[in-house]
Amino acid sequence: MSEFIEVIGGSPLSGTVTVGGAKNGALPMLMASILTAEQIQYDNVPNLEDINLTVHLLEQFGARVEYVPGTLKVSVPELVATEASYSLVKALRASFWVLGPLLARGGAARVALPGGDIIGARPVDMHVAALSQMGADIKVKHGVVYATAPDGLRPARIQLRSPSVGATHQVIMAAALTRGITTIEGAAREPEVVALADLINSMGGHVEGAGTSSITIFGKESLGGAHVRVLGDRIEAGTYLLAAAATRGSVKAQGINPAHLGGFLDVLADMGLSVECGDDYVSVASRGTLKAVSVSTAPFPGLATDLQAPLMATLSLAEGTSRIEENIFEGRFGHASELCRMGAKIEVSERTAIIHGVERLTGAPVEAFDIRAAAALVIGGVAAEGVTHIFEPQHIRRGYEYLEAKFSKLGAHLCCRVADAEDFSFAGC
Ligand code: UD1
Repeated sequence: MSEFIEVIGGSPLSGTVTVGGAKNGALPMLMASILTAEQIQYDNVPNLEDINLTVHLLEQFGARVEYVPGTLKVSVPELVATEASYSLVKALRASFWVLGPLLARGGAARVALPGGDIIGARPVDMHVAALSQMGADIKVKHGVVYATAPDGLRPARIQLRSPSVGATHQVIMAAALTRGITTIEGAAREPEVVALADLINSMGGHVEGAGTSSITIFGKESLGGAHVRVLGDRIEAGTYLLAAAATRGSVKAQGINPAHLGGFLDVLADMGLSVECGDDYVSVASRGTLKAVSVSTAPFPGLATDLQAPLMATLSLAEGTSRIEENIFEGRFGHASELCRMGAKIEVSERTAIIHGVERLTGAPVEAFDIRAAAALVIGGVAAEGVTHIFEPQHIRRGYEYLEAKFSKLGAHLCCRVADAEDFSFAGC
């Protein structure tokens, strides 16, 4: 028996959707709880599989976790272990980011190498080089990173080769609990980095420059508890806005800071949509024709690679030929062939996809390969004529909370079903 999401497409979406807390913001913020024995309360935590995995990971290190929907209270009074197993790191690549905080608090860490995945090789060389520069003794044996710093880490001047989000999180966390001044040049500027720095500061730490490519961390001997709210999910917001565009509808996504969408807002305008921004929302409305665009993914504030797949789904219905260059992850076009099963006309060559807009997509059975590919297929499905079945929907559960309910509120028809060998039977939503 396998689960799938059934989408009956063809209706324009309209209405307001409230986005949840950002998965990519919550993960490093939760990992920062390793840096203190005191409690951190997190509000606006999304209900997602990746959050459950992170909580499980923290519990292995000795975390005490209280959960009420939307809020997590986490404290790690004592580090009882410093190992992150392969099964956890494989299920959640970002688990690798605990290496720095474990080293800073416990002087040792053993974390499995995440390895490649469906969207590209995803090496961690910058993480390892930065922590080595901070005095960690790091050996990689049999796919596991063994790191020790018995006398503690030391501050360093880190120059990142490219603005890796994960490596920036890793160094900020390690340096926050390492006495002295650590600098990161070439840092990632994503809003999630700013959110992590804000959390560290509210724990009594001192991080300056987050949101620029030059970050300074004044490390402390100890950090305390805090009470924070996870920032709204800019990628979830972008997904609903693109779904509105694909169905020629109008949707307001609330619960986000529009500035966090960066260059994506310009792309929406270039596609001929009417775009309106307020303090905590962005809304788009179709003006009839959807125009083709040529875009490239880039580090923030450029067009986020996590919106590339959903954008491709929408552009497959634009008038004319669009071009997307993927500059962050070399293998991130797996969704193109699935969209083609729905009638899209997309050619992929290395890092470039050429999308020849078609008048309509038609429902089809398709398979999701990762979180954002799954989102692209949902957009294709709500815009298509007929019924789409999206298999491997567990990817959706990793990154989109209450997907069926939120889309249904906007007028789409989605539900979760189970398939067995003989037929399909309704399993509720
Ligand atoms: C994070 C996000 C992911 C997003 C990505 C880019 C989370 C949980 N994940 O992933 O959704 O798509 O940022 O915005 O927040 N690289 C190296 N060596 C390293 C580290 C990275 O070569 O040591 C390369 C990667 O292969 C990739 C590029 O740098 O080509 C960017 O990766 P990075 O910013 O580190 O992505 P993640 O932090 O893994």
